[in-house]
Amino acid sequence: MVKAQFAKIREGSTEIKVPDLEYYRQFAKDPSFEAPVFYNPKMEFSRDVSVCMISSYQKLNHYKLRIADPLAGTGIRGIRYANEIENVEKVWVNDLDEFSVKVIKENVKSNKLNNVEVSNKDANLFLDEHQHDKFNVIDLDPFGTAMPFLDSAIRSLYLHGGFITLTATDTSALCGAFPESCMRRYFAVPAHNEHMKEIGARILVGAMIRQFAVYERTFEPVFTQSSDHYFKVFGVVKPSPSIVKKNLSQIGFIKYCKCGYFDESKFELTESNCPVCKKKMQVAGPLWLGELHSKEYLEEALDFAKKSELGTQKRVIKLFETVIGEVGFPVLFYDTDRFSKRLKNPPKKLETTMNNLKKKGYKVAKTHFVPTAFKTAAPFKEVLKEIKKK
Ligand SMILES: C[S@@+](CC[C@H](N)C(=O)[O-])C[C@H]1O[C@@H](n2cnc3c(N)ncnc32)[C@H](O)[C@@H]1O
Ligand SMILES: [Zn+2]
Repeated sequence: MVKAQFAKIREGSTEIKVPDLEYYRQFAKDPSFEAPVFYNPKMEFSRDVSVCMISSYQKLNHYKLRIADPLAGTGIRGIRYANEIENVEKVWVNDLDEFSVKVIKENVKSNKLNNVEVSNKDANLFLDEHQHDKFNVIDLDPFGTAMPFLDSAIRSLYLHGGFITLTATDTSALCGAFPESCMRRYFAVPAHNEHMKEIGARILVGAMIRQFAVYERTFEPVFTQSSDHYFKVFGVVKPSPSIVKKNLSQIGFIKYCKCGYFDESKFELTESNCPVCKKKMQVAGPLWLGELHSKEYLEEALDFAKKSELGTQKRVIKLFETVIGEVGFPVLFYDTDRFSKRLKNPPKKLETTMNNLKKKGYKVAKTHFVPTAFKTAAPFKEVLKEIKKK
């Protein structure tokens, strides 16, 4: 058996003991899976973003935070939240793995934190046992999909404005490489084309909203992130029946055609032909057709990122700035690279098409989903005319 070897690292302003990945690299290509406790240094960016978003939630709502980290690994998320976010009353850090819990305890001790409780339970059991504690922040960070933990998280989350964030690393399901897995976990048909990331993110948000509706609550996304090989959704929970109804009415489908045309439709699954090229359109969904982000939350998070000690600060700031630009735009986007291939044209600078549309009076914005794409409400024919220009 490989012996346990650890190293001290620093993320944000927190020092923590994690498996020494240089040592484990000799046993496996991906050392985070060979190590006795899970730690992925590439997810520092995700943790930096989460620190900013939870801090934004605290600043905008002025709550004393009661944070749960039910699938904690080394405890790095929960411990960073306790160290780096203001007004944290208490953090609960839990993992099913006994050795993880030993490491978490050492990390809590070395950080001299007296407001962190550590436990060693199945995440669903942990959440259900804490229903009376009413967490106002829950961060679900499992392997793959978080859906098996969502119900118990909803039950232990503060009803009037709690904050939930979950990671989905099962992008192969949500982005259509394994459509049956997407159907099983999210009861939705994904797409496997240039729009797969935004459609995958909307399927995830849609599934969350449907699950919250079961409990007469709704979930409003304030940031829907797609980075590297994961999605991370952040949102606020609301109990009002009228908002539940309004949000459910924004669950629908996206129709898209091979020629690049796309459209959205509310909850109906009738087949239709593309109005541009007349071919039969494909359908993805059910998914969330509403707003994916909140400008207010993202601006507060951006402000925090600029003032904080974050290892991935530049990347975090760039992400928040791009996403703030996306707010208010319709679903999906135009990927100029894909259109160049489709039209057999040489690749064209994204900015050229964006500027030409701007000159015609249309609003345009880049999207964090795809770096070679832009969003606009301009009619498809206008967009195509500009994209076709050499
Ligand atoms: C992706 S890792 C967490 C990574 C950690 N949050 C971080 O940022 O480094 C998932 C963790 O969930 C734990 N886990 C898996 N199934 C669990 C369950 N049913 N209940 C509680 N923990 C579980 C694993 O032991 C693992 O440490
Ligand atoms: Zn078409």
